[in-house]
Amino acid sequence: MSDDSACRQKFRHDVLIIGGGAAGLSLALRLPAHLKVAIIAKGGETASSTYYAQGGVSAVLRKDDSYDAHITDTLDAGGGLCDEAAVRFTVERGPDNIRWLAELGVPFTADTHQDGSKSYHLTREGGHSQRRVIHAADATGRALETTLMNHVRDSQNIEMFSNHIAVDLITGKKLGLKHNRCIGAYVLNKDTNRVETFQARFVVLATGGANKVYLYTTNPDGSTGDGIAMAWRAGCSIANMEFMQFHPTCLFHPQAKSFLLTEALRGEGGKLLLPDGTRFMDKFDARGELAPRDIVARAIDHEMKRLGADCLYLDISFKPAAFITSHFPTIYAKCLEFGIDITRQPMPVVPAAHYTCGGVKVDLHSRTDIENLYAVGETSCTGLHGANRLASNSLLECLVFAEAACQDIAQKINNTRWDDIKDWDESRVTDSDEEVVVAHNWDELRRFMWDYVGIVRTDKRLQRAKHRIDLLQSEINEYYGNFRITNDLIELRNLAVVADLIIRCALQRKESRGLHYTLDYPQTDTVAKNTVLIPAK
Ligand code: FAD
Ligand code: SIN
Repeated sequence: MSDDSACRQKFRHDVLIIGGGAAGLSLALRLPAHLKVAIIAKGGETASSTYYAQGGVSAVLRKDDSYDAHITDTLDAGGGLCDEAAVRFTVERGPDNIRWLAELGVPFTADTHQDGSKSYHLTREGGHSQRRVIHAADATGRALETTLMNHVRDSQNIEMFSNHIAVDLITGKKLGLKHNRCIGAYVLNKDTNRVETFQARFVVLATGGANKVYLYTTNPDGSTGDGIAMAWRAGCSIANMEFMQFHPTCLFHPQAKSFLLTEALRGEGGKLLLPDGTRFMDKFDARGELAPRDIVARAIDHEMKRLGADCLYLDISFKPAAFITSHFPTIYAKCLEFGIDITRQPMPVVPAAHYTCGGVKVDLHSRTDIENLYAVGETSCTGLHGANRLASNSLLECLVFAEAACQDIAQKINNTRWDDIKDWDESRVTDSDEEVVVAHNWDELRRFMWDYVGIVRTDKRLQRAKHRIDLLQSEINEYYGNFRITNDLIELRNLAVVADLIIRCALQRKESRGLHYTLDYPQTDTVAKNTVLIPAK
């Protein structure tokens, strides 16, 4: 499977998958079993966004639902910017992918009907005209991640490297070769602090989103946009980074580290309230609490600013307690830890950065601009989400595009050959004596992104952010060139790259659309265009 050199600093696999969330794991499991596959992940199972997914996976699973309805809802939420072919491609593959998950043993919640028959319980979320979100109570991601991971552990052909963080991709161009295929990655083994070389015929980026670029986020610490930054440095186009999605309802409590309160709470009737207990969503959209996420987050932001309130409220306490504790056991228990009994009290909520709609531009086979390099899941931009993702379409996208990448890789695998790869060169760097600089830069970046590149933007705020990111990037790059790399330095460097990409995309868009709302250009242009950034040659 890999070279037997004494300390295994060089590895060779058919397919190298960077990331162990829904995208990376499902891809590994779908590849033909004769291929040697490596998955590297910088943390364990609980380090992926997948693990924290609550609401579920959207798919057309009922007779009274239809592909056309799911497509229409997705296009509508996407603010006119979705790629219709990508939407249809995803939606039509939904039911098969759900069947695949169920066969693997994901314990989706069942519904028992009056006649005693059973089917899957489907919940509803913002922007969906139908109940079409299949789930495992309110901890769908945990069920999905652990089921997939158990199958990976049982497989003979997949080698899992946890505690390994990819630093950069290796391409032909980087090595001065005649071709520019992607042929591997340099990876820091966090246990040994050594950079190892992973060579592969095909490389897949499945590193998740970049939401840690903001001070407040629902995401785990590792959502630092590593795949997007690595792809950009390697020469891939990046698209639509201005569309960072803020989830409307994150628990507001000093000790709750950005705990999400699923949209399914609103799907099951939950009401959004001002501090005085009045409802307000009807003022903003006829769909009320079930309007798409961009509209609800903006409405909450508006009301909080208007009232000078620290938070607003989400109330489901009017439902029977047994319903609440059986449908939302995780949320019930978590809120109780903080002294909030959701069967009797409303939950204090604020919006927080949640999902990266843009990313590495890919086609319907998940192929990037670089040969043999694929991007799947939140790190990619497939065209499915447009200017605002429809709830629960993300896990679906991970599954569908992982399957598509597998089919493409399986077709091409025999036509690739191995090149010689140079090892990582550490001869000119020393250990850092100023690690505090890294921590300070992290804080500064995340704070100014929250203040200047948040839910409501202006050119002036974006220019301020651009000025700061330029300074930070030159500082970080100098630091990176002189000191031995660490996990934190790698992530900081990547965060700075994605922050820069977000700001540049936001500055280019002279209109308001979906998640990008600017006071300077409140109108929506008649023609919808993607923002595509192409790296300098
Ligand atoms: P992730 O699951 O984030 O996995 C990324 C993987 O890459 C991790 O293993 C990470 O350790 C690894 N990694 C990252 N960088 C590196 C690197 N440099 N080197 C090595 N490894 C690296 N979507 C839905 O559709 N339905 C939901 O109900 C839902 N609920 C959500 C709730 C929460 C709280 C959050 C945060 C998100 C939710 N989402 C939901 C969004 C969805 O969970 C994510 O978009 C999706 O799980 C992303 O999967 P992924 O495989 O692309 O990335
Ligand atoms: C949620 O459960 O509210 C999150 C769903 C999503 O992000 O798609």
